[in-house]
Amino acid sequence: MLSQKITVALEGHHYDIHVGQGLLDQAGDLIAPLLAQPRTVIITDKNVARHQLLRLESSLTQAEITFDTIILPAGEATKSFEQLEKLLDQLLGLQLNREDKIIAFGGGVIGDLVGFAASIYQRGIGFIQIPTTLLAQVDSSVGGKTGINRPLGKNLIGSFHQPDLVLSDIDTLDSLPKRQLLSGYAEVVKYALISDDKFFHWLEENGSKIITGDPDIRTEAILTCCRAKAVVVAEDEKEKGARALLNLGHTFGHALEAEAGYSDRLLHGEAVAVGMVMAFDLSVKMGRCPPEDAVKVRQHLERISLPTRIAKTNHPLSQIKMTAERLFNHTRQDKKQSGGQVTFVLLSGIGKAFLSADVKAGDVRQIFQRAID
Ligand code: GLY
Repeated sequence: MLSQKITVALEGHHYDIHVGQGLLDQAGDLIAPLLAQPRTVIITDKNVARHQLLRLESSLTQAEITFDTIILPAGEATKSFEQLEKLLDQLLGLQLNREDKIIAFGGGVIGDLVGFAASIYQRGIGFIQIPTTLLAQVDSSVGGKTGINRPLGKNLIGSFHQPDLVLSDIDTLDSLPKRQLLSGYAEVVKYALISDDKFFHWLEENGSKIITGDPDIRTEAILTCCRAKAVVVAEDEKEKGARALLNLGHTFGHALEAEAGYSDRLLHGEAVAVGMVMAFDLSVKMGRCPPEDAVKVRQHLERISLPTRIAKTNHPLSQIKMTAERLFNHTRQDKKQSGGQVTFVLLSGIGKAFLSADVKAGDVRQIFQRAID
């Protein structure tokens, strides 16, 4: 089978996620039934436009959908108020109305920005996610988190706005640089570490084939992550509880990203990889997790070539001067802070994540210090 479908079932809203090969060529036929009138706007970035846009545009044309295309700059800096404002003005200029739907065609940056624009344009219009990176296909395109960054932190301004359809064409991964694939792979491992130790063992066997490009293994891995996410999002759409588990590695990771200035020196998934190792180290330090599980996770990430510490590696991250104190201060600004306490995702083993606000500041500082020494 070239592609498979799963459904995200929420109260009052459900949508399909299609994963597999050749989906860009079917996009027009899959999108047409969702449109009140046969027109839409594709919003993408320069890199995706260069490699993939023609396939999507031909597919819409074949399905007799008329469209405009907006091409934004590539990179994290696009998740800004400035770009959001420009995009909203362009949509107004195109006289889109509330029945129209727009298409987010790209990685996490495009998905988050376009989703946010869709959530506030005329108080909310529908949108379709066509994610083109592994990271977006396994995580950010599903579940309706949208937003932009501010100097104080990532995704601090945003909304929950669920898409109407997600099309994850794994062919788009073929033109992705290896470093981007690895960054997405960290989020794949995240799903295994949170609740699925069997998936972790499967990744130990098969993970490298996700990077080298085996289509069946890629499809299987993306579906497994999306199934896990669909269950969590259905239970806790607005992150009042269990959804926060999906932030495993992110409190540490966001601190590193902030110190790296949200630059190419550290990709999101790379930060999450180091952050997940730190979450295991903290859990071991607190006596909550067997040390051998932490070792297994570190070894798996290292084998696949993801960074697992800050200093003394040949990753660009090692060239950034970081102090434990500055990193620690970032964790205090983390948005998962509630009632003055930062909630950490800890683990009692591989596949056994839990939330804890009962973490000593001194332990967190020490974990940062260890990753630097
Ligand atoms: N990326 C975590 C979430 O969607 O909740």
